[in-house]
Amino acid sequence: MGNAAAGDCHRRTRRLEVPLAKVFFSKIIPETVAFFTDFFVPLRSKSKNDMLKIENLHASIGGKEILKGINLTVRDGEVHAVMGLNGAGKSTLSNVIVGHPAYIVTEGSITWDGKDLLSLNPEERAHEGIFLSFQQPVEIPGVSMVNFMRAALNAKRKYQGLEPMPAGDFLKLMREKRSIVELDSKLTSRSVNEGFSGGEKKRNEIFQMAMLEPKLTILDETDSGLDVDALRVVAEGFNKLRRPESSAIVITHYQRLLDYLKPDIVHVLIDGRIVKTGGPELAAEIESRGFDWIKNEIKD
Ligand SMILES: Nc1ncnc2c1ncn2[C@@H]1O[C@H](COP(=O)(O)OP(=O)(O)OP(=O)(O)O)[C@@H](O)[C@H]1O
Ligand SMILES: [Mg+2]
Repeated sequence: MGNAAAGDCHRRTRRLEVPLAKVFFSKIIPETVAFFTDFFVPLRSKSKNDMLKIENLHASIGGKEILKGINLTVRDGEVHAVMGLNGAGKSTLSNVIVGHPAYIVTEGSITWDGKDLLSLNPEERAHEGIFLSFQQPVEIPGVSMVNFMRAALNAKRKYQGLEPMPAGDFLKLMREKRSIVELDSKLTSRSVNEGFSGGEKKRNEIFQMAMLEPKLTILDETDSGLDVDALRVVAEGFNKLRRPESSAIVITHYQRLLDYLKPDIVHVLIDGRIVKTGGPELAAEIESRGFDWIKNEIKD
């Protein structure tokens, strides 16, 4: 009798345990996870690192002041678009960030991950993870793509305290990255950019980016010269290659590249200054209305 009652009681407890366990796994755990996600993820994004911080940057070339007080902060994982009229200073800004020696910084600062970027030479900036895709890529006759890429990659590895990449691994990496941007193998067996078409040069820039896996990529009118299909391949390749913490500054005159790259922030650069900043809708507005309305806003 006692045993029977105990057995009955045990069965009832087990029956109770099953729904309790169900509630625990189906409701309490997901709700707890959701609570912590809601609470901590915004906190994390609020505390995102300032990867690049440009403050009151003035720069000149040939004695002429081009940048007249640029302020721009790019945080980890952000894509910033920079738009503006021809001659506004967009390429100058990208050249100054990578340390082109022809440009003289006369005032202001650039901080990279807390370090003074302006005190680093161009090679060190590249090894730190800054990559510029040139508006007009240069041809380097006599230097094969393979040797060029191997030298660049291994120099970066040396800076990071790593051994050179074994030849087999390097060629495998070349093949893998080449396929992401659909770069013809015939091109990688030639000299850097020599005789490449305009579009092939731009595609080659993104291939180099793919090989070097930068933290910050600056695309200076990468879309110009690309046909519609090539633009899609390059932009999709760029998106595939992005890591959550990597950032980009995308200089362009057209909305179509931004449709693929989905910038978080859009800036307008006029006469050496960022005069307006907004969301992706600003790029769409510029596409339809041009820049006159922004120039009028500045005058007022
Ligand atoms: N070596 C130089 N000597 C004198 N002026 C220069 C030199 N290089 C650039 N500039 C001038 O600096 C200004 C800004 O040029 P920059 O290439 O930065 O413009 P941009 O905004 O990139 O224009 P685009 O949209 O046409 O590419 C231009 O007026 C240009 O002529
Ligand atoms: Mg330019």
